[in-house]
Amino acid sequence: MTDSAAKHLLDWYGQNARDLPWRNPPSQSLPADPDWPYRVWLSEVMLQQTTVVAVRDYFAAFTARWPTVAALAAAGDGDVMQAWAGLGYYARARNLLACARAVVRDHGGHFPPDEATLRTLPGIGDYTAAAIAAFAFGAHAIVIDGNVERVVTRLHAIDTPLPAARPQIRAALGTLVPGDAAGDFAQGLMDLASRICTPKSPRCLICPLHPGCRAAASGDPTQWPVKAAKRPRPTRHGTAWWIEVAGQVLTVVRPAKGLLGGMRALPSCDWRGDPTPPIAGEWQDRGAVSHGFTHFELVLAVRALHLSAKPALAGDWLNVDDVAAAGLPTLFQKAATLALATRLEAA
Ligand code: ADE
Ligand code: SF4
Repeated sequence: MTDSAAKHLLDWYGQNARDLPWRNPPSQSLPADPDWPYRVWLSEVMLQQTTVVAVRDYFAAFTARWPTVAALAAAGDGDVMQAWAGLGYYARARNLLACARAVVRDHGGHFPPDEATLRTLPGIGDYTAAAIAAFAFGAHAIVIDGNVERVVTRLHAIDTPLPAARPQIRAALGTLVPGDAAGDFAQGLMDLASRICTPKSPRCLICPLHPGCRAAASGDPTQWPVKAAKRPRPTRHGTAWWIEVAGQVLTVVRPAKGLLGGMRALPSCDWRGDPTPPIAGEWQDRGAVSHGFTHFELVLAVRALHLSAKPALAGDWLNVDDVAAAGLPTLFQKAATLALATRLEAA
């Protein structure tokens, strides 16, 4: 982005800023209200949870009931939890109270104005610290959230996938954020992101940043931000043992911990070990099945042994006709299906 892009954005924001109760209108000096930082902080924590539309009512209710950070710090935990209900994660409400109390206890009831000190407070990370510094104190802070990332990766056609692109995004913004209007600039980017530079259908033709935007010039701006290709999952190997005696097959309940914990399955070796069978015998290879788990692909060899008497192995014997309905997890369902399908050929 160039200086003129920053100017175009600020001009656009001056005309189009959303009117929000926690927001200082464009081009105005910050309110003298000593509780202004409290309002900014409260709104930012709420906005991490849900949409601007939903936050309006919660924000109004909270600030009516607890108009200052000291009032919130003195509130009962249960009252705050109840007021938060519907906003999602209670952990955030707990952090909200912990933060209010830390501000009262450690900072004399005033939010600290600099990002580094703000980050030491409960529940305040990089984004929130920058937002409070810029919106409540006028600091020259670089405020980056997912929406800002989208706009900036498009403007500069940054091909590095997220999250690796973050340093480039920060550097691009760093040269641009106007010294005297960091808050307006950031909130302008947010409004642009929600109204114009939307994820799926950016409205480039009416965008104030169109003249210098490389994504718009490409004709397909939705190529950015580039998402990291999923890492290929590693493959692991195992063996399932089909042990059949007079129309019955041995099943086991897997150990409570670990993959498919507590589920009924065929006996199997673990996914690393040497495939030593549970008993010696004339094992037949019946092929293999594969199944994708979250973190790896498992290739499970199926080996079968037909005996005339039940061996002394722990487990439960099921009629082979009942295996399909026995509720085996998909991996073992596939293994059993393969064992059954190859059974006649092997016989
Ligand atoms: N999302 C997070 N903070 C915001 C703000 N100050 N204005 C609009 N949207 C936001
Ligand atoms: Fe986004 Fe299009 Fe504007 Fe570029 S021109 S910032 S892609 S809306």
